[in-house]
Amino acid sequence: MATGRPCIVISDEEQGYDLDLFCIPKHYVNDLERVYIPHGLILDRTERLAREIMCDMGGHHIVALCVLKGGYKFFADLLDYIKALNRNSDRSIPMTVDFIRLKSYCNDQSTGEIKVIGGDDLSTLTGKNVLIVEDIIDTGKTMKTLLQLLKRYNPKMVKVASLLVKRTPRSVGYRPDFVGFEVPDKFVVGYALDYNEYFRDLNHICVISESGKEKYKA
Ligand code: IMP
Repeated sequence: MATGRPCIVISDEEQGYDLDLFCIPKHYVNDLERVYIPHGLILDRTERLAREIMCDMGGHHIVALCVLKGGYKFFADLLDYIKALNRNSDRSIPMTVDFIRLKSYCNDQSTGEIKVIGGDDLSTLTGKNVLIVEDIIDTGKTMKTLLQLLKRYNPKMVKVASLLVKRTPRSVGYRPDFVGFEVPDKFVVGYALDYNEYFRDLNHICVISESGKEKYKA
């Protein structure tokens, strides 16, 4: 593990929670198996990550780079917690935000080709301390490609925060600096993570059902 800090590890045996125990939008109840990570737990873990980021990157201006679209919820909540720390402690970090949009997935499979399909001009990152905020590291290919791309713009420092990291034999071995949860090799949706653009409008992170995959297939 490249990161020195532990994260919450969700074991392969973890079954999650029955959907009936939580509030799920009616339009998704037949498309999901289980609630895997409830929204409240995501927020509590994110609050702690904000503290760790402040500790490691504090003292310098940070450019927080949101990887769209999947990273937008984590990005917004993480920045809210960093802002709360900035308001309430003696030390504070000025922060600006940037956005990049990447696409590599169709259905639940990586296409193997990572495309930058929008976002800000990356030359603004030259000489800056950059915090990349991503939803999930699966094989790690997307992040490795993005890090290579950023290198061309000579940032002063680059750190990566990912809400989730998947335990998968397809991993290229990449591990981010800050990780919320390590999850089994299952396709998860919700909290802005999508399946062909669906399920971003779901608060909890859930496992999609086979019928859900079929219904929203591209
Ligand atoms: P990687 O290049 O294989 O690491 O894939 C990373 C990207 O794939 C993420 O930014 C997501 O957009 C997408 N992805 C991978 N696994 C999942 C998943 O379980 N749910 C939703 N999106 C996923």
